[in-house]
Amino acid sequence: MSKVTPFLRWAGGKAWLTNSVRNLIENLEFKNYYEPFLGGGAIFFSLNFPKTVYLSDINEELINAYTVVRDNPEPLIEIIQGYAYSEEEYYRVRALETVDNIERAVRFIYLNHTSYNGLYRVNRSGKYNVPYGRITSVYDPQLILAASSKLQKVRLNCEDFAARKSKIRPGDLVFMDPPYSVSRKPNGNGFIAYNQDLFSLTEQYRLKEYIDHIKRKGAYYILTNSAHETIREIFDNGDRMITLQRNSVIGGKNSVRGKISEYLFTNIPEIGDDHV
Ligand SMILES: C[S@@+](CC[C@H](N)C(=O)[O-])C[C@H]1O[C@@H](n2cnc3c(N)ncnc32)[C@H](O)[C@@H]1O
Repeated sequence: MSKVTPFLRWAGGKAWLTNSVRNLIENLEFKNYYEPFLGGGAIFFSLNFPKTVYLSDINEELINAYTVVRDNPEPLIEIIQGYAYSEEEYYRVRALETVDNIERAVRFIYLNHTSYNGLYRVNRSGKYNVPYGRITSVYDPQLILAASSKLQKVRLNCEDFAARKSKIRPGDLVFMDPPYSVSRKPNGNGFIAYNQDLFSLTEQYRLKEYIDHIKRKGAYYILTNSAHETIREIFDNGDRMITLQRNSVIGGKNSVRGKISEYLFTNIPEIGDDHV
């Protein structure tokens, strides 16, 4: 498997972290790879894996799109090519209700490229409700085909991050990039106790238990999370804790530029210099 770029735009995407993760696992001999908060899959697409890869996410439409890209890329490409890039077409496609898996994947990928910031958000009755956005990238058949080859033999599941807990074996590697629980503004550091789009504090504690389990099994983990005191208290368990900085632009009328920090926690041993 070679290096491929994600075929989706995804909030919190980790394209900026791929070199750091590659350096981190450079000398690591690991077995199966698990990525239970898949999203746009920037880390998965950027690396090669020695054994079985298990990718999962709680978002059913997302996992359906990956499954169709893996198994039926040609029909998907053929249908999506019939869709125009315009506001009128956007609202027509957004209103479509379809049960066919290929049509659902087409709709998901089309909306991902044309919605405001590529956001995925549904209302209380489960209807996708993101407005039309400025088109920043047009869907690319080559990306879909490359992603499809990379996904061959990959196990895809729509499930909670802890669902496969009992399957983790010694030497496996689990990469976790959960949704944010804190304000992402450069100067904001408020911990958000509950918001339907964000990960709650209870979920963070559940994630900590999952990590304890991975460690007990003799497997490796990499966790990225907000650089917040509460997060440090929960996850700083004596393993490596690295503070990552990346440039950010928070758009909109009051747009600000700044550095956003994130924490990376891992039990991968440090060999020689730390390149991260
Ligand atoms: C920050 S995004 C991951 C972004 C990804 N690393 C990338 O490069 O695009 C977090 C993902 O976690 C998923 N998620 C939220 N709660 C979850 C849960 N309880 N179990 C599994 N996945 C969950 C969301 O659907 C979202 O796709």
